[in-house]
Amino acid sequence: MEPHLFSPLSIRSVQLKNRLVMSPMQQYSSPDGLVGAWHLVHLGSRAVGGIGLIITEATAVSPEGRNTPFDTGLWNEAQVEAWRPVVRFVQDQGAKIAVQLWHAGGKGSHAHPAAGFHHLPPDQGGWITKSASAVSLDQQHTPEALTVAEIQTLIAEFAQGARRAVQAGFDAIELHAGHGYLFHQFYSALANHRTDDYGGSFDNRVQLLLQTVQAIRAVIPEAMPLLVRLSAVDFSAEAHAWHLADSVRLTRLLQQHGVDVVTASAGGFSAPEKSQVGPLYQVPYAEKIRAETGVLTGAVGLITTPQQANDLIANGQADLVLLARELLRDPYFPLRAAAVLGAATAAPVQYGRAFPTHRPH
Ligand SMILES: Cc1cc2nc3c(=O)[nH]c(=O)nc-3n(C[C@H](O)[C@H](O)[C@H](O)COP(=O)(O)O)c2cc1C
Repeated sequence: MEPHLFSPLSIRSVQLKNRLVMSPMQQYSSPDGLVGAWHLVHLGSRAVGGIGLIITEATAVSPEGRNTPFDTGLWNEAQVEAWRPVVRFVQDQGAKIAVQLWHAGGKGSHAHPAAGFHHLPPDQGGWITKSASAVSLDQQHTPEALTVAEIQTLIAEFAQGARRAVQAGFDAIELHAGHGYLFHQFYSALANHRTDDYGGSFDNRVQLLLQTVQAIRAVIPEAMPLLVRLSAVDFSAEAHAWHLADSVRLTRLLQQHGVDVVTASAGGFSAPEKSQVGPLYQVPYAEKIRAETGVLTGAVGLITTPQQANDLIANGQADLVLLARELLRDPYFPLRAAAVLGAATAAPVQYGRAFPTHRPH
């Protein structure tokens, strides 16, 4: 019998060959929002390494949706064309690829991390940032509060981004609704102080995300999976912060609106206590959401060994295992995991001589 980690999973019309997922990682390597040779090699290597699903780095739906001027985008046709060969190469290796669509909201307009990641004002190549409320999220500047008309424009930009993702050939779409970015700025009362239909009650604070999901579902094929990354908790003891029970409640609504998978990350406004961070520390979030709602979940955060990854699936704690930094260290982690766990490897034929089960007869 194949180890659980290497069992396939069907989500709508997409069949994943295993449960290993490349977690989204910003590369800050896209002037004008364009992916290029770096992305072909970076994502292509992980596809060659046997990953089941790649989720791209956060990809902005508008120039103002970026974190830095170097983030990828899907707000114009040139960006669609730039993504196409990357998507095709990944798929040719038997992997699937989802684009992570996002908007940084009040966390936008920063310098490249190598230049210090400080806030960039408009006269230094940055832009005016907007959020749910005029609440500073980086202790360096205060964003403006979005008007209701601007919120409607944002939702339309996400739908347009989703249309472009379909054109570029992506297998699936993930909405980045965690890490203190735009959607999180609305659903967490830590950042949302609005008094209109998008603020106040839980139902109001999750409206932007639900309306965006609805708008995207209306323009993508029925057969295309839609994933959402949540920050399952705010890492804050404040009573009005976002807690796991809120994520369970939100997941039920997302499910009703046609979301297929929730990946459970955490934080974005404050960091966890050091003592809280260790191997598998965010897994309980995916496990609880899965147990309470039955939705497919992805676990992420300090998962670094084949055995940990296999146990998560075998024990029913999650349906997908997301790897970020471990996959930077070893793009061939899935092939290594297959060897360790005794799964039939699926190394590319070109690499057959390095993987005994693929040695030509
Ligand atoms: C270089 C880097 C860039 C990241 N960029 C993103 C991103 O674009 N979108 C996102 O949702 N998470 C992003 N993350 C978070 C990862 O997807 C992941 O949740 C986190 O690193 C924990 O997983 P790990 O312990 O396997 O690294 C990034 C992490 C790293 C290390």
